Amino acid sequence: MEYFEINGQKKLKGVVSINGAKNAAVAIIPAAIVANGVSVIENLPTIEDVTSLMKTLNLLGAKCSLNDESTLIIDARKVDSYVATDDSVRKIRASYYLMGALLGRFGRAEVALPGGCNFGERPIDQHLKGFRMMGAKIDTSDDRIIKLEVNGRLHGANIYLDVASVGATINIMIAAATASGRTVIENAAKEPHIVDTANFLNMLGANIKGAGTDIIRIQGMDRLHGGEYTIIPDQIEAGTYMICGAITGGDITVKNLIPKHMDSLTAKLEEMGCHIDEGDDYIRIVSDGKLCATNIKTMVYPGFPTDLQPQITALLAVAEGTSRVVENVWENRYQYIDELKKFGVNVTIKGREAIIKGVPRLKSANVSATDLRAGAAMIIASLAAEGKSTIDNIRFIDRGYANIEDKLRALGADIKRVSKN
Ligand code: EPU
Repeated sequence: MEYFEINGQKKLKGVVSINGAKNAAVAIIPAAIVANGVSVIENLPTIEDVTSLMKTLNLLGAKCSLNDESTLIIDARKVDSYVATDDSVRKIRASYYLMGALLGRFGRAEVALPGGCNFGERPIDQHLKGFRMMGAKIDTSDDRIIKLEVNGRLHGANIYLDVASVGATINIMIAAATASGRTVIENAAKEPHIVDTANFLNMLGANIKGAGTDIIRIQGMDRLHGGEYTIIPDQIEAGTYMICGAITGGDITVKNLIPKHMDSLTAKLEEMGCHIDEGDDYIRIVSDGKLCATNIKTMVYPGFPTDLQPQITALLAVAEGTSRVVENVWENRYQYIDELKKFGVNVTIKGREAIIKGVPRLKSANVSATDLRAGAAMIIASLAAEGKSTIDNIRFIDRGYANIEDKLRALGADIKRVSKN
């Protein structure tokens, strides 16, 4: 068991480099098993979710090996099992992509129900609706394992998603890549990692058009082959460091990102009083620590991402005036608020809305990470707080942020990872 110890109020300065996107990696790794070939995946983030997926793929018969820290080679030629029910599958949410991948490869899949961060109900009905429309029979009688089977091969279908779900869009795209005929996904989600997964599949020989818009058309191919692909930078990791710079009155350059992906956050940080300078693949953020209140509504891309909601709420805690945050994507993503209050944050929750009255300074606190992005919010509050704070349950943070304490320390933060006896 480990925790972080942070002495706050150090202004962050310098350059931080962003890793490959977690939510692209966790889709692309399972997608690789649709192909009967070898995929080389570069710019892979070194995070727990990736390690768990590698274990699962190896159990399915693939050979996964890391060439260096950030290059993964997946030899999917000998994948010979459609049963993914080991413990590592249950650990992460994105293991639901194994359904689409195994259905595409074998026409059958048995996959343990996904785990991951828990913030309210996380249904997968839209994924299952898509598979059903493509001809799969689905057995959910076992509440721990979903069994899917198609007679022969999946066939193309016109699928209208009731909600623009990231997971359902990607999962259907993966399954449709080798289905017979054409699949059209309407009301598709548009997040950058959807485009990245489509680009990866196209590199393997798939024919996917329209990813990044709300209509995606997939012409199924008989076979996919291997190839080489580089994962896009992580929009949420980048945003988290930008917010760390803003709250500490810092001057940091976040490099190896795609500035366009950051537009919704950049606009808000400018509104709050930060100075932003953008280059082709970096954003410099300069803050004098004097921030003013603003309102945020989380939305599907290109709106403000729900995965930056806890972090921006921590920042708004010290912004002068009253801010309102409305969480539109997840029903219950405020479970971290009680922890945040320990820093002296003045926040009230009314349904999907958080009303934050800015305070001049935060006090130190001993808190727990209740999920991945909530954990990032605890780090942000600790960086601003007077004195020594501790954050427990950091296994959640390790699921999505590679070397976070090293990166923050290089920017001048006083943070250390401590092992509990
Ligand atoms: N929804 C349904 N039915 C479905 C699927 C989703 O009703 O079949 C609803 C959900 O309840 C939610 C909304 O649709 O209210 C959006 O869910 P979505 O399917 O888009 O989320 P997801 O695919 O499960 C991914 C990310 C999350 C991120 C969301 C929204 C991965 C592995 N996870 O989840 O990332 O919050 O999209 O952008 O890509 C994180 O990185 O911290 C994280 C939680």
